[in-house]
Amino acid sequence: MNRTSVVLIAAIASCGAFARTIDLNGDWNFSKDGAPETVVRVPHDWSIGADFDETKEEGSGMLPWKGEGRYSRTLTLSKEDAETLKSGGEAYIEFDGVMAQPAVVVNGVWVGGTTYGYLSFSKRIGIHLKEGENKLEVVANTNPHWSRWYPGGGIYRDVRLRVLPKGHVVPGSVWIRTPEVTKDCAKVVATWRNDDGSEGKREFDVKNPVMWDVENPHLYTMEIGGETYRYGIRTFKWTADDGFYLNGRRLQLQGVCLHSDLGLLGMAFSKDAARRQLKIMRDMGVNAIRTSHNCPDPKFLDLCDEMGFVVWDECFDKWDGTASWDAGRGDLHEYLAMNLRSFVRRDRNHPCVVVWSIGNEITRQRPDFYAGVERRRVRDLRDAVRAEDPTRPVAMAACEEWTIEALEDLDVVGWNYTRRYKRMRGMFPNMPMVYSESGSSFSDYGYYGDGKPAASRVSFDGKLFRTDGYDYNSAGYSDIADVEFFRVEKDRYLAGEFVWTGIDYIGEPTPWLRNKDSAIESVARSSSFGTVDLTGFPKDRFWLYRSHWNKKDETVHILPHWNWKGRATNVTVMVYTSGDSAELFLNGKSLGRRAKEKVDDYPLDWTGDMNDWSYYRICRRYRLIWDDVAYAPGELRAVAYRDGQKIGEDFVRTAGDCVAVTATRDPYSDENDEFVFYRLAAVDANGVLCPWESDEVEISVSGAGEFTAAGNGNPHDRRGFASKRQKLFYGRAMVAVRRIAPGEIKVRANPRK
Ligand code: GAL
Repeated sequence: MNRTSVVLIAAIASCGAFARTIDLNGDWNFSKDGAPETVVRVPHDWSIGADFDETKEEGSGMLPWKGEGRYSRTLTLSKEDAETLKSGGEAYIEFDGVMAQPAVVVNGVWVGGTTYGYLSFSKRIGIHLKEGENKLEVVANTNPHWSRWYPGGGIYRDVRLRVLPKGHVVPGSVWIRTPEVTKDCAKVVATWRNDDGSEGKREFDVKNPVMWDVENPHLYTMEIGGETYRYGIRTFKWTADDGFYLNGRRLQLQGVCLHSDLGLLGMAFSKDAARRQLKIMRDMGVNAIRTSHNCPDPKFLDLCDEMGFVVWDECFDKWDGTASWDAGRGDLHEYLAMNLRSFVRRDRNHPCVVVWSIGNEITRQRPDFYAGVERRRVRDLRDAVRAEDPTRPVAMAACEEWTIEALEDLDVVGWNYTRRYKRMRGMFPNMPMVYSESGSSFSDYGYYGDGKPAASRVSFDGKLFRTDGYDYNSAGYSDIADVEFFRVEKDRYLAGEFVWTGIDYIGEPTPWLRNKDSAIESVARSSSFGTVDLTGFPKDRFWLYRSHWNKKDETVHILPHWNWKGRATNVTVMVYTSGDSAELFLNGKSLGRRAKEKVDDYPLDWTGDMNDWSYYRICRRYRLIWDDVAYAPGELRAVAYRDGQKIGEDFVRTAGDCVAVTATRDPYSDENDEFVFYRLAAVDANGVLCPWESDEVEISVSGAGEFTAAGNGNPHDRRGFASKRQKLFYGRAMVAVRRIAPGEIKVRANPRK
């Protein structure tokens, strides 16, 4: 596929002037911190290919994202476009996101920039352009930006130029809303601004509307000024006593928080790669996404519109360095309000967005902390959002109970961790609430501790640097998945939960971050919070959520793997299933049937000791556990039932010697995607995964694709993703290939001895 600059003719205006959108993603000369220039395509993340390096900031993932990057390219303006501009038209250069604080220069003239790297921006540059060659320059500077995770660097989202004739509709000004919706009829109102300053408006009814829903995300389109806009018709409400309603039906939010990075691809956005992530989440049963903690790529919201996810759209984390604000940027209120307004204007046409979030876990304002939560500031920011969209509620995610009163004027409040929402419920029973972060739990794919009652949720394997595949580990301030399941089942007034996190992300290497209180010897590059690892492999925990959330597909998942010779004589076995019971067979011999237990007296507020095994009592409500299975090599099989009817089965088999490393297309990756993902697996002569393999492999790609990135789910692996030599992690790794032509892509991985 040739992805060099494509020129699209969007519409032809009556006077002969063209409306065009010109893709400016290709052919940028790029140099960082004075290094020699290279030619790059954007979306481009300047640090994602580097090795992870302990001399770099640990909290944001040890990659060299800090620095100043200079981009330049030629923009050739056709005679027709020059005519369009001469006859009163305008040209807009549009950036979907540049990290950070970009300055844009056109033919040597500075035309402005923006302050907040997660937000889209556009500049009118018609008067600076001429027919023929023009020079575009963009300088991005991440040095003043601060982040608690990996933010990437550079022009990491799309860039385009729009040349529009006189009389055009100002890009970004169209707002489509549906103020009255019933089953029989929806009133649709569209307003916009014309380039002469006048307002445009269209109002009409849609009879018997097909609702936009998570099940059937129907989108309508309309043409305004020669462009097609999409919209959805739906009703929703957040209630204080009975959670969230979509189209008159209670929808339990089965949500995940997602950071913006795309794992191996870093922050460089690809709609196809993001779709793959959302497909994985959908398979788990997810129906809601929290864009923690930043404005996502606009195409991410397009995907949520198309695939049917409701979105908690979040603009900021803290109101300080992670929002790119410092005292040098002037008034904090104005800075936040300005960015919030432009965020809402950008995203308000998306039917998926059902709440605006103005921040996350911001501490109360104190004499020693200026950018904090205080009632007036919260109200001001709420009003800034309402000024652009009075139709959706305004929220924030909170964690400090002493900020409760300052949050009273919001429409919805999210609470993070350990049932903190309960206190606000007591004080403000009319406030709709959601568990905006639940289950900061950890696990590594393929590693299993002893699965025994001595374990506690904060006892990680500090020698191997692994967290537990039995899903018994979580952060001390949080809980394992099962405890959260129980809470949202019982606290029906809540709209549901957003799990921290759906997918591992680069940075915030919890629990392996070195700090003054810990003696961690190996800092990790990434978190272990995800139900899915950084490369896109579902961990066991994925199947636990799937068994509880996905009501369409049956789940039967058995763990651990079955290669314990010389390592264990008795093994804990778990089955995560959407059924109510399962029978376990070892080499054809029944080890008995287990049913989920009706544990109903579990305390919603756990006050016990960290090492108290009864903490895990709740697991028996959601999992089937065989505590001591005498190990014998062969096949371990689980057959699952609901109401006595078999619903499916799963098995693990003992692998023999590893004879090959296979590469198969990841089931969530489409072969025609921009990036096609391949799973590498070390296998024995029968194709059974060899779960202890950690050899390095040499990857080669030929045919219709080119190698882009590879890696594994080991948060401690320091090898950069641009390397074709990668280690297997418990037998597996992932490769991302850019499709460059139609036809077959061949991926090989040869073990290096
Ligand atoms: C929360 C925070 C998230 C992330 C998470 C890790 O307190 O809002 O951004 O840091 O903890 O557990």
